[in-house]
Amino acid sequence: MALIAPSLLSANFLQLQQDCDMLNNSVADWFHIDIMDGIFVPNISFGAMVTQFIINASKKYNDVHLMIEKPGDYIQAFKDAGAHNISVHIEACTHLHRNIQQIKSLGIHAGVAINPHTNVALLKDILVDINVVCVMSVNPGFGGQAFIPHTLQKIKQLRKMIDEQGLSVKIEVDGGVTLANATAIIEAGADVLVAGNTVFKSPNPTETIAALKAL
Ligand code: DX5
Ligand code: ZN
Repeated sequence: MALIAPSLLSANFLQLQQDCDMLNNSVADWFHIDIMDGIFVPNISFGAMVTQFIINASKKYNDVHLMIEKPGDYIQAFKDAGAHNISVHIEACTHLHRNIQQIKSLGIHAGVAINPHTNVALLKDILVDINVVCVMSVNPGFGGQAFIPHTLQKIKQLRKMIDEQGLSVKIEVDGGVTLANATAIIEAGADVLVAGNTVFKSPNPTETIAALKAL
Protein backbone atom coordinates (compact mmCIF):
# COMPACT_ATOMS: atom_id res chain seq x y z
CA MET A 1 0.00 0.00 0.00
CA ALA A 2 1.52 3.29 -1.10
CA LEU A 3 1.12 6.69 0.50
CA ILE A 4 -1.03 9.03 -1.61
CA ALA A 5 0.04 12.62 -2.20
CA PRO A 6 -2.51 14.62 -4.19
CA SER A 7 -0.94 17.57 -6.01
CA LEU A 8 -2.66 20.86 -5.22
CA LEU A 9 -1.47 22.18 -8.59
CA SER A 10 -4.60 20.59 -10.07
CA ALA A 11 -6.92 22.03 -7.40
CA ASN A 12 -9.41 24.83 -8.02
CA PHE A 13 -7.66 27.92 -6.68
CA LEU A 14 -10.96 29.77 -6.28
CA GLN A 15 -12.04 27.10 -3.81
CA LEU A 16 -8.80 26.05 -2.20
CA GLN A 17 -10.38 25.75 1.25
CA GLN A 18 -12.92 23.23 -0.07
CA ASP A 19 -10.25 21.27 -1.91
CA CYS A 20 -8.04 21.20 1.20
CA ASP A 21 -11.01 20.05 3.30
CA MET A 22 -11.73 17.33 0.76
CA LEU A 23 -8.14 16.08 1.12
CA ASN A 24 -8.30 16.34 4.92
CA ASN A 25 -11.44 14.19 4.93
CA SER A 26 -9.98 11.65 2.50
CA VAL A 27 -7.43 8.89 3.06
CA ALA A 28 -4.75 11.01 1.36
CA ASP A 29 -1.47 10.99 3.30
CA TRP A 30 0.40 14.02 2.04
CA PHE A 31 -0.39 17.38 0.47
CA HIS A 32 2.01 17.73 -2.52
CA ILE A 33 2.69 21.43 -3.14
CA ASP A 34 4.35 22.33 -6.46
CA ILE A 35 6.43 25.51 -6.65
CA MET A 36 7.48 26.68 -10.13
CA ASP A 37 9.53 29.77 -10.95
CA GLY A 38 9.23 30.11 -14.73
CA ILE A 39 13.02 29.65 -15.01
CA PHE A 40 13.85 26.12 -13.88
CA VAL A 41 10.56 25.03 -15.47
CA PRO A 42 8.51 26.79 -18.16
CA ASN A 43 5.61 27.62 -15.89
CA ILE A 44 4.91 29.71 -12.78
CA SER A 45 2.68 28.35 -10.02
CA PHE A 46 2.72 30.14 -6.66
CA GLY A 47 5.09 30.93 -3.82
CA ALA A 48 5.49 30.72 -0.06
CA MET A 49 2.57 33.03 0.69
CA VAL A 50 -0.06 30.86 -1.02
CA THR A 51 1.73 27.77 0.34
CA GLN A 52 1.20 29.07 3.86
CA PHE A 53 -2.55 29.44 3.25
CA ILE A 54 -2.66 25.87 1.93
CA ILE A 55 -0.66 24.50 4.84
CA ASN A 56 -2.79 26.38 7.36
CA ALA A 57 -5.77 24.54 5.88
CA SER A 58 -3.97 21.18 5.82
CA LYS A 59 -4.23 18.47 8.46
CA LYS A 60 -1.78 16.20 6.65
CA TYR A 61 1.97 15.95 6.00
CA ASN A 62 3.03 18.85 3.78
CA ASP A 63 5.43 18.00 0.97
CA VAL A 64 6.87 20.98 -0.90
CA HIS A 65 8.40 20.30 -4.33
CA LEU A 66 10.64 23.19 -5.37
CA MET A 67 10.99 23.40 -9.16
CA ILE A 68 13.06 26.55 -8.92
CA GLU A 69 16.56 27.88 -9.48
CA LYS A 70 18.57 28.82 -6.37
CA PRO A 71 16.31 26.81 -4.02
CA GLY A 72 18.64 27.61 -1.12
CA ASP A 73 17.38 31.20 -1.15
CA TYR A 74 13.81 30.05 -0.39
CA ILE A 75 14.18 27.10 1.98
CA GLN A 76 13.66 29.20 5.10
CA ALA A 77 10.51 30.77 3.63
CA PHE A 78 8.94 27.38 2.86
CA LYS A 79 9.95 26.02 6.26
CA ASP A 80 8.25 29.05 7.81
CA ALA A 81 5.18 28.36 5.65
CA GLY A 82 4.92 24.97 7.40
CA ALA A 83 6.61 22.42 5.11
CA HIS A 84 7.35 19.01 6.64
CA ASN A 85 9.47 17.99 3.66
CA ILE A 86 11.20 20.18 1.09
CA SER A 87 12.49 18.57 -2.10
CA VAL A 88 15.01 20.38 -4.30
CA HIS A 89 16.00 19.33 -7.82
CA ILE A 90 19.41 17.74 -8.30
CA GLU A 91 19.60 19.64 -11.61
CA ALA A 92 19.14 23.00 -9.82
CA CYS A 93 21.76 22.45 -7.11
CA THR A 94 25.48 22.78 -7.76
CA HIS A 95 26.02 22.18 -4.05
CA LEU A 96 23.26 19.67 -3.42
CA HIS A 97 24.75 18.41 -0.17
CA ARG A 98 24.84 21.97 1.21
CA ASN A 99 21.18 22.56 0.29
CA ILE A 100 20.17 19.25 1.91
CA GLN A 101 22.02 20.16 5.11
CA GLN A 102 20.34 23.57 5.01
CA ILE A 103 16.90 21.91 4.96
CA LYS A 104 17.78 19.41 7.67
CA SER A 105 19.26 22.09 9.92
CA LEU A 106 15.73 23.55 10.10
CA GLY A 107 14.49 20.29 11.62
CA ILE A 108 12.41 19.09 8.67
CA HIS A 109 12.72 16.30 6.11
CA ALA A 110 14.79 16.76 2.97
CA GLY A 111 14.16 15.36 -0.49
CA VAL A 112 15.84 15.33 -3.88
CA ALA A 113 13.78 15.48 -7.06
CA ILE A 114 15.24 14.06 -10.26
CA ASN A 115 14.23 14.81 -13.85
CA PRO A 116 13.43 12.09 -16.39
CA HIS A 117 16.80 12.42 -18.17
CA THR A 118 18.94 12.31 -15.02
CA ASN A 119 20.47 8.96 -14.04
CA VAL A 120 19.47 7.79 -10.56
CA ALA A 121 23.05 6.55 -9.99
CA LEU A 122 23.92 10.24 -9.35
CA LEU A 123 21.97 9.96 -6.08
CA LYS A 124 24.20 7.25 -4.63
CA ASP A 125 26.25 9.52 -2.37
CA ILE A 126 23.35 11.66 -1.15
CA LEU A 127 20.85 8.89 -0.29
CA VAL A 128 22.25 8.54 3.22
CA ASP A 129 21.44 12.21 3.92
CA ILE A 130 17.87 12.41 2.64
CA ASN A 131 14.35 11.25 3.45
CA VAL A 132 12.69 11.33 0.03
CA VAL A 133 13.62 10.89 -3.62
CA CYS A 134 11.01 12.45 -5.91
CA VAL A 135 11.32 10.62 -9.21
CA MET A 136 9.84 12.77 -11.94
CA SER A 137 7.84 10.63 -14.34
CA VAL A 138 7.06 13.64 -16.56
CA ASN A 139 9.13 16.68 -17.43
CA PRO A 140 8.25 19.05 -14.60
CA GLY A 141 6.23 22.18 -15.27
CA PHE A 142 2.66 21.09 -15.83
CA GLY A 143 0.01 18.79 -14.44
CA GLY A 144 -1.87 16.39 -16.66
CA GLN A 145 1.04 15.02 -18.73
CA ALA A 146 1.53 11.38 -19.74
CA PHE A 147 3.68 9.06 -17.60
CA ILE A 148 7.08 8.31 -19.17
CA PRO A 149 7.31 4.47 -19.15
CA HIS A 150 11.14 4.35 -18.76
CA THR A 151 10.61 5.74 -15.23
CA LEU A 152 9.73 2.20 -14.08
CA GLN A 153 13.34 1.09 -14.69
CA LYS A 154 14.60 4.08 -12.72
CA ILE A 155 12.34 3.26 -9.77
CA LYS A 156 13.57 -0.36 -9.75
CA GLN A 157 17.21 0.74 -9.84
CA LEU A 158 16.64 3.23 -7.05
CA ARG A 159 14.79 0.66 -4.93
CA LYS A 160 17.82 -1.61 -5.23
CA MET A 161 20.24 1.19 -4.31
CA ILE A 162 18.21 2.15 -1.23
CA ASP A 163 17.74 -1.44 -0.07
CA GLU A 164 21.41 -2.28 -0.61
CA GLN A 165 22.42 0.63 1.60
CA GLY A 166 19.82 -0.43 4.19
CA LEU A 167 18.15 2.99 4.11
CA SER A 168 14.54 4.02 4.63
CA VAL A 169 14.45 6.78 1.99
CA LYS A 170 10.99 7.01 0.46
CA ILE A 171 10.60 6.80 -3.30
CA GLU A 172 7.96 9.28 -4.44
CA VAL A 173 6.78 9.14 -8.05
CA ASP A 174 5.52 12.38 -9.53
CA GLY A 175 3.72 12.91 -12.83
CA GLY A 176 1.14 11.08 -14.91
CA VAL A 177 0.13 8.63 -12.18
CA THR A 178 -3.26 7.05 -12.94
CA LEU A 179 -5.39 4.20 -11.62
CA ALA A 180 -4.23 2.25 -14.67
CA ASN A 181 -0.46 2.56 -14.10
CA ALA A 182 -0.24 2.88 -10.31
CA THR A 183 0.07 -0.86 -9.67
CA ALA A 184 3.10 -1.15 -11.95
CA ILE A 185 4.65 1.90 -10.24
CA ILE A 186 4.13 0.37 -6.79
CA GLU A 187 5.49 -2.99 -7.95
CA ALA A 188 8.60 -1.23 -9.27
CA GLY A 189 9.23 0.01 -5.71
CA ALA A 190 7.42 3.32 -5.17
CA ASP A 191 6.39 4.30 -1.62
CA VAL A 192 4.51 7.52 -2.40
CA LEU A 193 2.29 8.31 -5.39
CA VAL A 194 1.74 11.94 -6.36
CA ALA A 195 -1.50 12.44 -8.28
CA GLY A 196 -2.79 15.73 -9.64
CA ASN A 197 -5.23 15.39 -12.49
CA THR A 198 -6.12 11.80 -11.63
CA VAL A 199 -7.53 13.05 -8.33
CA PHE A 200 -8.83 16.54 -9.01
CA LYS A 201 -10.30 15.97 -12.47
CA SER A 202 -12.10 12.81 -11.43
CA PRO A 203 -15.86 12.88 -10.76
CA ASN A 204 -15.29 11.81 -7.15
CA PRO A 205 -11.82 12.82 -5.92
CA THR A 206 -12.32 11.29 -2.46
CA GLU A 207 -13.15 7.90 -3.95
CA THR A 208 -10.28 8.15 -6.43
CA ILE A 209 -7.84 8.75 -3.57
CA ALA A 210 -9.27 5.71 -1.77
CA ALA A 211 -9.00 3.64 -4.95
CA LEU A 212 -5.32 4.61 -5.41
CA LYS A 213 -4.63 3.80 -1.79
CA ALA A 214 -6.32 0.39 -2.05
CA LEU A 215 -3.98 -0.78 -4.85
C1 DX5 B 1 4.75 18.44 -12.41
C2 DX5 B 1 4.45 18.49 -10.93
C3 DX5 B 1 3.53 17.40 -10.54
C4 DX5 B 1 2.18 17.50 -11.20
C5 DX5 B 1 1.50 16.18 -11.12
O1 DX5 B 1 5.62 19.43 -12.75
O2 DX5 B 1 5.64 18.36 -10.18
O3 DX5 B 1 3.42 17.30 -9.13
O4 DX5 B 1 1.38 18.48 -10.62
O5 DX5 B 1 0.30 16.28 -11.81
P1 DX5 B 1 -0.29 15.05 -12.63
O6 DX5 B 1 -0.54 13.96 -11.62
O7 DX5 B 1 -1.54 15.60 -13.21
O8 DX5 B 1 0.74 14.65 -13.64
ZN1 ZN C 1 5.48 17.79 -7.99
